[in-house]
Amino acid sequence: MTASVAPRGQRPRAGETAAASPAVARAARILRWGGLVAFPTETVYGLGADAENVRAVSRIFAVKGRPTSHPLIVHIASRTQLAAWGAEVSDAALTLAERFWPGPMTLIVRRRDRVPLEATGGLDTVALRVPAHAVAQALLAEFGGGIAAPSANRFGRVSPTCARHVLDDLGEDVDLVLDGGDCEVGIESTIVDVSSAEPAILRLGGVTREALEDLLGRPVPLRCGGSVRSPGQHASHYAPRARVIVLHPDEIAAQAAALRRKGQRVCVLAADLPAAAEDLAGVALPRSPEALARVLYDRLREADRAECDVVLVTLPDDSGIGAAVADRLRRAAAPRSPSD
Ligand code: TXA
Ligand code: MG
Repeated sequence: MTASVAPRGQRPRAGETAAASPAVARAARILRWGGLVAFPTETVYGLGADAENVRAVSRIFAVKGRPTSHPLIVHIASRTQLAAWGAEVSDAALTLAERFWPGPMTLIVRRRDRVPLEATGGLDTVALRVPAHAVAQALLAEFGGGIAAPSANRFGRVSPTCARHVLDDLGEDVDLVLDGGDCEVGIESTIVDVSSAEPAILRLGGVTREALEDLLGRPVPLRCGGSVRSPGQHASHYAPRARVIVLHPDEIAAQAAALRRKGQRVCVLAADLPAAAEDLAGVALPRSPEALARVLYDRLREADRAECDVVLVTLPDDSGIGAAVADRLRRAAAPRSPSD
């Protein structure tokens, strides 16, 4: 089978039924046969397989080039299925699911036996998420089971936020790409570990830390690193090919000039492009953190398309979704490990 994008006219709009879309019906058939389907969520596109089919799940790792020890997120149709996939679900988990599902939040809970260890990287916990995107919802309803899906990019690269990004990265290796347009959030889901008594954030994302803490009425610490092998926690994740350097706005012009003197192709990503950057590959970024999150990955890919050697970037404020954007940019700027 070859990759194809469902014609835009065939994708269901919010409120339409799954049965209205032949593309979604075909995608569900491919999942039942053990194939791979890339599909849109409101955060980023996922590379999906039947979560209970070990061979299909294994293919995800092969196609992504991702170590099999790195656990996947299992996408489910509704919060009412939480207890069917997760065991010993805590009150905090139920409270979070009630408020933020469907939406850009993933919960780590104890794994039920139906979740194969291949999907969890051998862990006894599983990451679960109910996506809000109409096409993802339609696909989950039509398929009926859980869909294991990491972001639909090669391991260590920037997540895709439109169907074109998926095709650029994975091309013929995926059986079908459902085109649901540009992702509304644009960065990955917030991951909250509720598998023990103390909820903790493992990855900042589409749901803000402030919103989690308001709801639970307690601080929710950010727990990065630790014992779990999480690719999203690798220092140098979410990186374009170009080297990324985080700078204060005042430093950009001088740095850009210095790098250009060394013969480097420089791209500047900033809300305010310095006048000296006019003859550089300058890309203005939106000021609002929500709008910035939406376009960030496309702009990083743009720098690669322009064959830049170095991307100079400024950070947004470290609050709200700006904290998640800043986190991604710091990781993009971190020293690269050989696996990336
Ligand atoms: O927005 C998203 O979360 C997207 C869409 C497609 O849902 N998915 C996504 O998947 O970003 P991926 O595989 O690129 O990132 C999932 C993260 C990884 O960092 C993984 O290690 C972590 O979730 N994860 C999965 N299962 C886990 C577990 N049992 N314990 C701790 N971390 C886990
Ligand atoms: Mg990913």
